[in-house]
Amino acid sequence: MKILITGGAGFIGCHTAKALIERGDEVVLVDNFNDYYDPQLKEDRVKNVLADQKFQLYRTDIRDREKMAEIFAKEKIDKVIHLAAMAGVRNSLKNPQLYYEVNVLGTQNLLDLAVKHKIQNFVYASSSSVYGNNTKLPFSESDSVDTPISPYAASKKATELQAHVYSHIYKLPTTGLRFFTVYGPWGRPDMALFLFTDAISKNKTIEVYNHGNMSRNFTYVDDIVSGILTVLDANLPYDVVNIGGDREEKLLRFIEVIEENLGKEAQKKMMPIQPGDVPATVADISKLRKMGWEPTTRIEQGIKNFIDWYRDYFKI
Ligand SMILES: NC(=O)c1ccc[n+]([C@@H]2O[C@H](COP(=O)([O-])OP(=O)(O)OC[C@H]3O[C@@H](n4cnc5c(N)ncnc54)[C@H](O)[C@@H]3O)[C@@H](O)[C@H]2O)c1
Repeated sequence: MKILITGGAGFIGCHTAKALIERGDEVVLVDNFNDYYDPQLKEDRVKNVLADQKFQLYRTDIRDREKMAEIFAKEKIDKVIHLAAMAGVRNSLKNPQLYYEVNVLGTQNLLDLAVKHKIQNFVYASSSSVYGNNTKLPFSESDSVDTPISPYAASKKATELQAHVYSHIYKLPTTGLRFFTVYGPWGRPDMALFLFTDAISKNKTIEVYNHGNMSRNFTYVDDIVSGILTVLDANLPYDVVNIGGDREEKLLRFIEVIEENLGKEAQKKMMPIQPGDVPATVADISKLRKMGWEPTTRIEQGIKNFIDWYRDYFKI
């Protein structure tokens, strides 16, 4: 199979590309290497995670309809994994236009091309943030998600709606994966694990939101990749599926594991919850489990793997 991965130089995209190449698929990566965080990390992911692998890379923006059309025409793609997006809840409050342009209009371009080229399956990244301030835990796919609380979350909810339209009208098979806080080696510098590790190792104070009263289903990147492959192979006519770790971890326990691995205690500044942020995201993962998927990596191992990578990458 030839698989197009948008956001292919991103954290999840690169790991996904590696797994697909290793099982014998061909991959075509599209990424615009934007500077939301240091683009050098994206360059290094492609160079290192995909070292010695064969793949096609296009440095293209998914908002560019013409260039994207050329890629589809040239590459004869079988399936799409659409991960390119402006990510990050807090940043979306500063630049909502950009989030809607990339996440909504960019997705629209891809859906149009997917229909035109009779793509067999269109898998895309949604997010646990669509659950907004829902109080019923764990979050289930059958819960209402009509009250997002950030432009980012609204853009992801919009993506699910766009996909529904195209599955319904054009019978394009689409599956949205609602990712729950993904972490692991080559992770994103704007996310808690990276920020905390960086600050603690440089003896800087870390900001702990909602006074530490937060919990997450942290999901190790390899478990995310195996979930992506599960739904990629399933060709569901239309679905939206949670993908998260199977344990509700308290933020303070998460920080403790980082401290243990760094052999250093964090200086913590307790802060109120930030606008757009939610105190708990806990996933009901029974739907994906029924498809044979199972998360396998606990935070003790996953954080160790991240910190081993961090030390190696930054030569600490
Ligand atoms: N990491 C998480 O915890 C998490 C949680 C929920 C949802 N998601 C979603 O999963 C997807 C992948 O996330 P990630 O953590 O790998 O983030 P990432 O930022 O590392 O990867 C996204 C990639 O998309 C690229 N990109 C952004 N705008 C683009 C554009 N206009 N054209 C082409 N490429 C563009 C970026 O350069 C980046 O390499 C995103 O859609 C994100 O919203 C991630």
